[in-house]
Amino acid sequence: MKNKTRICILLAFVLLLLSACAGTAQGTDSTPAAEDEWNAPDEDYLAKLSQQDQEKENPQTEPKRVGVAMPTKTSERWINDGMNMKAKLETLGYEVDLQYADDDIELQVSQIESMIRNGVNCLVIASIDSTQLTEVLSQARDKGIAVIAYDRLLMDTDAVSYYATFDNKAVGTLIGRYIEDKMELKSASEKGQSYTIEFFMGSPDDNNAVFLYNGIMEVMKPYLKDGTLVCRSGLTEFEDTCILRWSEDTAEETCIRLLNEYYPGGDLDIACSAFDGFAYGILKAWQKKGFSMDKLPMITGQDAEKPAIKNIAEGKMDMTIYKDTRVLASKCVTMVQALLENGEPEINDTTQYHNNVLTVPSYLCEPVVIDRSNYEEILIGGGYYTKEQLFQ
Ligand code: BGC
Repeated sequence: MKNKTRICILLAFVLLLLSACAGTAQGTDSTPAAEDEWNAPDEDYLAKLSQQDQEKENPQTEPKRVGVAMPTKTSERWINDGMNMKAKLETLGYEVDLQYADDDIELQVSQIESMIRNGVNCLVIASIDSTQLTEVLSQARDKGIAVIAYDRLLMDTDAVSYYATFDNKAVGTLIGRYIEDKMELKSASEKGQSYTIEFFMGSPDDNNAVFLYNGIMEVMKPYLKDGTLVCRSGLTEFEDTCILRWSEDTAEETCIRLLNEYYPGGDLDIACSAFDGFAYGILKAWQKKGFSMDKLPMITGQDAEKPAIKNIAEGKMDMTIYKDTRVLASKCVTMVQALLENGEPEINDTTQYHNNVLTVPSYLCEPVVIDRSNYEEILIGGGYYTKEQLFQ
């Protein structure tokens, strides 16, 4: 009995000890003091950690910025170019700073400087004077900012990676061939007939203007030589026919002067104009001279602006060159992506566009002739303009 009692007491003691231990273990979780020691992570902190993990796997960077410098709003095409570029770049997630410089070179330089200061990653530039940006382009190059020449080549600089444009010589060739076909110059030449012609060429500070002139002259020269085309003013060289800053007013003044001096009876057959804006100036000159609108010369143009298409539909102008700015913007955007995301830009010319420092890899879009016979199908059918936009 005595032993039994001892065993019972021992058992009770062991049980007591066990339960005390268990109690202490539970207490670790429940005592307020212990709670203070356990710094439970707050939800914000956990969220931050998980965001950091995500960022390591998939870095969330700031959107890259692209500066788009356009020359002017006075001509419709540049408004379309700017709008298309901005929309396409924004769709891809880029931040876009689009600026127009009112054909003022200093303003364009200061706009580009401010884009550089604001930390753009890439510059897309349609210059006013292609030779006047060398200094600001050096600043861009020194900061590692990529530069793309838009429509007009940037001259005298190594700070340009790509060039997106239209085939500028082809623009001239198309205008020349149109005149050749519609005036039937081949048969006129055979028959010894002749037509009078005057030239209104593009701006001397725009490389495109020279390409265009060369394209026109490739077709026109033989006819000027054999007397099928007669330029009474004798002004057939680029230097004599170019019009600074593509100014409509200057084209009008030039036309009035030429009509006064060489065509007082209004017997000018062809006004070979390199730009829709010049065509408007020529039409104004014709009206100011009081010549009959039924005896207009053949008038050419470039850009397929809305007023030009209206003129063509009304028989006041003969043709223009359509440059689909949507296509140009798309090609240029592939260049931006190539430079900023290691993409592969589309290039189709690596020989023609030397800017006095380097041959700039280029994409040349295709220009298209527009006249009365096809404007509806190509421009309206192709969704470039609506009928309302053209004829309202
Ligand atoms: C463009 C033409 C435009 C002209 C005047 C040129 O650089 O290539 O499309 O008509 O500028 O704006």
